[in-house]
Amino acid sequence: MSATDQHQPAEPDQETLRAQEAMHDRISSDSLTTRRDYLRIVATVSGGLAVGGVAVAAGALHRHGDGVAEPKRIAGRIPAGQSVAFRYPGEEDRAVAIRMADGTLVGYSAICTHLACAVLWRSGRGAEGELHCPCHEGVFDARTGEVTAGPPPRGLPKVVLVERADGSVWAIGTARSGESAEEGLCRQRSGRDSGPAGRPGCPGAASPGPAEAERGERT
Ligand code: FES
Repeated sequence: MSATDQHQPAEPDQETLRAQEAMHDRISSDSLTTRRDYLRIVATVSGGLAVGGVAVAAGALHRHGDGVAEPKRIAGRIPAGQSVAFRYPGEEDRAVAIRMADGTLVGYSAICTHLACAVLWRSGRGAEGELHCPCHEGVFDARTGEVTAGPPPRGLPKVVLVERADGSVWAIGTARSGESAEEGLCRQRSGRDSGPAGRPGCPGAASPGPAEAERGERT
């Protein structure tokens, strides 16, 4: 046998060729499936994120203050410059009450209007403190709830607070972004009462507004 004969590769027989073709087909079909699955997963996740983002931006998801808001005692007392975290009107609705340095009491939803991160009170920032969202550096004015920096598209919804003679602080209703406390209380009362006659101070009625009426009820 010559050296050339020793290194000549043997010709594959028909059975080996069929086995190689079957293996090739299987690998091709596996990679097609994998690619298809991958594309489907990417499309599903991207679609979900896009729908979720649009829904949050449009306020289509659960909105703070949706539903009936019943009065709720949230603190025995809130000293100047301090805040209290609470849930209102529902157990999923995070909120914050703040006593400003001049004694003014304000309350807001603590859920950022950008992508729903938790908003935190920072008493040492600026002249009056600020409400800060750490997710994308959103900032809200502590006195009005309006956006002062960052990507949030609108101000924080309000929680309407009253203080009773014993110093306790009560949440009595909510107002959506851009709505005044009066408008928010009237909207909620119109959902509970039969008509303008049951909504003192609201459009169509002549008696004192709900906030005044609540203040008159202080004990
Ligand atoms: Fe608050 Fe983006 S979630 S700034």
